[in-house]
Amino acid sequence: MIDYKNSVAELISEKVQLEKEKIYEVIEIPPEMEMGDYAFPCFILAKTFKKNPALIAKELSENINLSNNFEKVVNNGPYLNFYLNRTEFNKDVLKETYKNDNYGKKDIGKDRNVIVEFSSPNIAKPFHIGHIRTTVIGNAINNIYDFMGFNTIAINHLGDYGTQFGMLISAYKKWGNRETIEKNPIKELLKLYIRFNKEAEEKPELNDEAREWFKKLEQGDEEAKSLWQWFKDVSLKEFNRVYEMLNIKFDSYAGESFYSDKMERVINELEEKNLLKSSEGAEIVDLEEYDMPSPLIKKSDGSTLYITRDIAASIYRKETYDFYKNIYVVASQQNLHFQQWIKIVELMGYDWAKDCVHVPFGMVSLEEGTLSTRKGRVVFLEDVLTKAVEKTKEIIEERNPDLENKDEVAKKVGVGAVVFQELYNNRIKDYTFSWNKTLSFEGETGPYVQYTYARTCSIINKAKIDIDDKVDYTLLKEDIEFEITKALYDFSNVIEDAMFKYEPFYITRYIVDLAQKYNRFYNKCPILKEEEELKKARLLITLGVNKVIKTGLNLLGIETPEKM
Ligand code: ARG
Repeated sequence: MIDYKNSVAELISEKVQLEKEKIYEVIEIPPEMEMGDYAFPCFILAKTFKKNPALIAKELSENINLSNNFEKVVNNGPYLNFYLNRTEFNKDVLKETYKNDNYGKKDIGKDRNVIVEFSSPNIAKPFHIGHIRTTVIGNAINNIYDFMGFNTIAINHLGDYGTQFGMLISAYKKWGNRETIEKNPIKELLKLYIRFNKEAEEKPELNDEAREWFKKLEQGDEEAKSLWQWFKDVSLKEFNRVYEMLNIKFDSYAGESFYSDKMERVINELEEKNLLKSSEGAEIVDLEEYDMPSPLIKKSDGSTLYITRDIAASIYRKETYDFYKNIYVVASQQNLHFQQWIKIVELMGYDWAKDCVHVPFGMVSLEEGTLSTRKGRVVFLEDVLTKAVEKTKEIIEERNPDLENKDEVAKKVGVGAVVFQELYNNRIKDYTFSWNKTLSFEGETGPYVQYTYARTCSIINKAKIDIDDKVDYTLLKEDIEFEITKALYDFSNVIEDAMFKYEPFYITRYIVDLAQKYNRFYNKCPILKEEEELKKARLLITLGVNKVIKTGLNLLGIETPEKM
């Protein structure tokens, strides 16, 4: 397809003393269609021309030699407004959407490696609604980078290490029961954890015991290791049920424990580089100079910390994957943690520290207050997905009881609704989870867009002709038809923006807008009932919308049933 903005810049540059790139930068998209498709504000020429911008716009409008891609150029105050030749434009775009099976794809990545770390729940802790954000935002970012030509590595940095495992082992040995845990692993392990913390308030010596167990685990004690492995296995079994529902796959589950034998090297290296400072028997890195609290790197009893593991992980990843970018989709509560360790990696002299990117997102709370595992204020992610699927099933039974594969469709739509809502706003916004909102499918929701997709499928099927791009493009005269092709034309730029800003919601909003446009078109312009030539042209638009909604939703991690 032609880069029309670039064409506009070229046309102008033929007439003025200003580089094409500078012109390109200031070209705007007018707010109303009546004002044309591209606008050039003439202010930046006022100095060189020594004239007022409105006069410059007038003169340029009379002098510019338009190509066949444009219908006209008109001055409007200080602006020069370009109008596309709609027939040529529609043809250019629709031919491309028709021919290209990967419409929207670009090769920005050139096979460079990008790591996207996301989800990363903690073993033996609930996989709750707070984790949904990292999970679905991360998955979408991973898909987007992949689609833009990067080689992506999806990593689940499991929280499977640390003193809390000492507590769990202690608690299990005192009060645990294997069968009860096997039946309901996370809920039971959580109970043990909560009980341990409660009793430790009165009996602080319990904490020493827990520390002792964690130390044993670090030293490879058989009993400690086998219990820890078991906690991990049963937890992962639960997490995997959720990943399966969400259709999410990871390339690596190398979590915190994976780095336990890679810590010594980090400590030694920090020492050699004179970055460690003793503080009350423990080791810290002094970050005062950078206006940050100085983090503890090694405790006085020799055990390492979360932050040490992150430093080790980044070095390991660089050596293993030689990443172009190493992206972390982790809550904004951990902003400081990321600033600290990335700074430390930089101080160690690794220039790739700048390629480690923390992509934060806002907090989820419940209507009754902040999430708190200890206080039992927690909504399990699995329950949310299951309820959304059940509700969808009820709606299907009510509205379309004869639908084939009802359960499968209910799953795709129910889960899709939850994911879509998660990706509807910019990621940094905090929000309050509400069952009502999550289970309401009215308005700008996943089901609405999926329904529009199913509508395009049904029209294409009912047409019973082979759609192709040899149509009479002059028949597409409606504004709404042109609005749709313009939206289709934008698709790949929207994905690119979403990629560079780590904001999948650009795609979500875009798809909603496209679906709304298509539905306006559908209500206004007959398709199957039209005479043959116009019908073919409108089917081609339908096919373009069909492909773009499918690709867009899939990038977000949402499936697209053909009937619903
Ligand atoms: N397991 C941590 C949590 O649930 C998130 C891990 C984030 N990733 C990292 N590399 N620190 O809070």
